[in-house]
Amino acid sequence: MKIHYFSSEGWEEDFIKNKLPNDEIIFHLGSIADFQDVSDSEAEAICTFVETKIGEIEMSRFPALKLIATRSTGFDHIDLAAAKARGIAVVNVPFYGENTVAEFAFALLLALSRRIVEADERVKETGTFSTKDLRGFDLAGKTLGVIGTGHIGAHIIAMANGFGMKVVGFDAYPNSELAEKLDFNYISLEELLATSDIITIHTPYNPQTHHLINKENINKIKKGAYLINTARGAIVETEALVEALKNGTLTGAGLDVLEEEGDMNDELALLTASHPKEDELKIALENHYLINHPRVIVTPHNAFNTSEAVERILTTTIENIKAFSAGSATNVVS
Ligand code: NAI
Repeated sequence: MKIHYFSSEGWEEDFIKNKLPNDEIIFHLGSIADFQDVSDSEAEAICTFVETKIGEIEMSRFPALKLIATRSTGFDHIDLAAAKARGIAVVNVPFYGENTVAEFAFALLLALSRRIVEADERVKETGTFSTKDLRGFDLAGKTLGVIGTGHIGAHIIAMANGFGMKVVGFDAYPNSELAEKLDFNYISLEELLATSDIITIHTPYNPQTHHLINKENINKIKKGAYLINTARGAIVETEALVEALKNGTLTGAGLDVLEEEGDMNDELALLTASHPKEDELKIALENHYLINHPRVIVTPHNAFNTSEAVERILTTTIENIKAFSAGSATNVVS
């Protein structure tokens, strides 16, 4: 197969070529959006990451396309309806980083509870060793609300148990065996918001989870709680999040994902577009509020990013491409 491989880190070229010696692979060091001039009437596959949307326009640049292999668990950046209409299979990497992402969510949680970022900045920027205003809080005894108790959520719950936290869960499909094994209770979303000291989100992003936390329900959150989001930005309505931080409903947040985070990479394009989208501009401004908030930690969609997880992602992606070539596609999401 002829494959265009976007968002390559360079070193991936040898790794992938070694494992797929019979395929013709063209590597690009940027995303499909960075290479607007790349089109190919012979390419049957593109391999992408999550940072750019793949819609009708991108697909039309590769008219012979049969496969989109995303090197991610989430596939909300791909227009599945457009892919289906064109007969393109979309495959993902469903399991690679359950522990990896959970470890990162916990890192955000600990950074917030013990004010690690502020403490480090103080020492680096002022050279002073004062602990003034750096008092944190214990995790032991606190209630962690886990929204989405799938692969990543289950790892978070096990970690929280290790820290002596009480856990409550909300899921569209509660898993009673898991609840028994990891000793937690399922409750409604409203109850979870009202009782959790820290809320962490681990659902996929889809029409049902779009703005799952929103202007209507965010005020149900226990006053002064913290929110962690390593799932997808648009699961939380940004305007509601900003308001909750302003009015003290939330004390702080740890965000590895932002709504419209793609725009944050190219704000100039957003501002200079001939018809700037008002909604996106508003969210970009709100994102700046979050980035600059002293009790909000924002990271650049980095939860997946360990050496071990990246190797697992590439290994599964290679297997996905081989299986598709052999006529028995694996990990198909469309
Ligand atoms: P999973 O599919 O194992 O678990 C998702 C859970 O959410 C399931 O238990 C499911 O029943 C539940 N769920 C689905 N729709 C729901 C709804 N409307 N309301 C309540 N619960 C609902 O997925 P996994 O592996 O735990 O990953 C979760 C998400 O984490 C991914 O979809 C992806 O978006 C995100 N992720 C983020 C990464 C990062 O680098 N920041 C890396 C990997 C995943």
